[in-house]
Amino acid sequence: MDNTGKPRVVLGVSGGIAAYKACELLRRLTESGHDVRVVPTESALNFVGEATWSALSGNPVATGVWESVHEVPHVRIGQEADLVVVAPATADTLARAAHGLADDLLTNTLLTARCPVIFAPAMHTEMWEHPATAENVATLRRRGAVVIEPAVGRLTGKDTGKGRLPDPGEIFEVCRRVLARGAGQERDLAGHHVVVSAGGTREPLDPVRFLGNRSSGLQGYALARTAVARGARVTLVAANTALPDPAGADVVRVGTARHLREAVLEAAADADAVVMAAAVADFRPAHYAQGKIKKQDGREPEPIALVRNPDVLAELSSTRARPGQVVVGFAAETDDVLANGRAKLARKGCDLLVVNEVGEDRTFGSQENEAVVLGADGSETPVPHGPKEALADTVWDRVVHLLRNRD
Ligand code: CTP
Repeated sequence: MDNTGKPRVVLGVSGGIAAYKACELLRRLTESGHDVRVVPTESALNFVGEATWSALSGNPVATGVWESVHEVPHVRIGQEADLVVVAPATADTLARAAHGLADDLLTNTLLTARCPVIFAPAMHTEMWEHPATAENVATLRRRGAVVIEPAVGRLTGKDTGKGRLPDPGEIFEVCRRVLARGAGQERDLAGHHVVVSAGGTREPLDPVRFLGNRSSGLQGYALARTAVARGARVTLVAANTALPDPAGADVVRVGTARHLREAVLEAAADADAVVMAAAVADFRPAHYAQGKIKKQDGREPEPIALVRNPDVLAELSSTRARPGQVVVGFAAETDDVLANGRAKLARKGCDLLVVNEVGEDRTFGSQENEAVVLGADGSETPVPHGPKEALADTVWDRVVHLLRNRD
């Protein structure tokens, strides 16, 4: 904290075209009450100049260790930081950080920082996938840093692939979560792959109509974000959501329950935990009309015949792609919440079931939630009304507990 009580954040910027997006991250950090010191590398200044960093942060900017030497900046900036975030992190910066080099102010800061460190890499796909980069990333993660997976999309040239800097707003969310957990909190999902399903499936009736539900996806996205901040590799299977991709999560978009089943089972093959937060339609129309269903003058409409969809949660629970894989379900109930929840937990065969009460104005689309996490071991963890991220963290606390007991 600085002397006004603001958390101190160091924003390291390395030399990639995505440096311009770091301006937006900087704004978000300062506007939300953080004291930000920007430490660009020499090459970052080729993309965005010192004046921009200095004006946006309200703090002096240096790249080398020979400026303001009397203040010993190469040690002090890192020591005093509550969080260091490097965005974008180039392949070169990741390599220097992984090998403990200290040839500029940013790498010195990384060596002296004892607070959480986040890297948001951005580079061309080939560089990201190169074994040298992969090993450097693995080294940094093993040491406790959060290395956010790059996003997939348009890169600098004409090419498209994995390597884009995630949306600055989403990198900010990771910073916020990591800061909220504090320096003492280890990245307890590091080394684990988790799968989260989110949103609500849609079952088409004809080319323009579907049977759907009111799930917004907010709870599943909160689970994905918090898992990234806790160091996990995250696959988010998103059904019909309109939310920005959480930074660091691999997002697989699906439409129907059957699509969702395929995507979840594929991702679950090497997952340590699967959390089914999606509202999966239990039924789908038995017949899909190739053309739009028209009303007929003087005739009542045909009833819609339904057939059952596969129960993904029950299937995951009974098959367990990996020994000790933790499977978590969600249950939205309107009455007899706990009794129904216990019965559902037993019926589905999962390890944990998050039960919440829903109604017309409750939970769906809201930023807040209130729930009880039931365990197959008989445990019952109430989560008071609060942000969906708080519930997400409680779910991950329980998952981590089960994973540790498994090992
Ligand atoms: N689920 C699933 N596949 C389905 C339906 C639900 O994987 N076809 C999962 C959801 O993702 C959620 C959990 O099962 O994690 C609970 O869903 P819910 O619809 O409440 O359970 P049902 O068994 O359908 O119970 P109900 O009798 O209340 O309809």
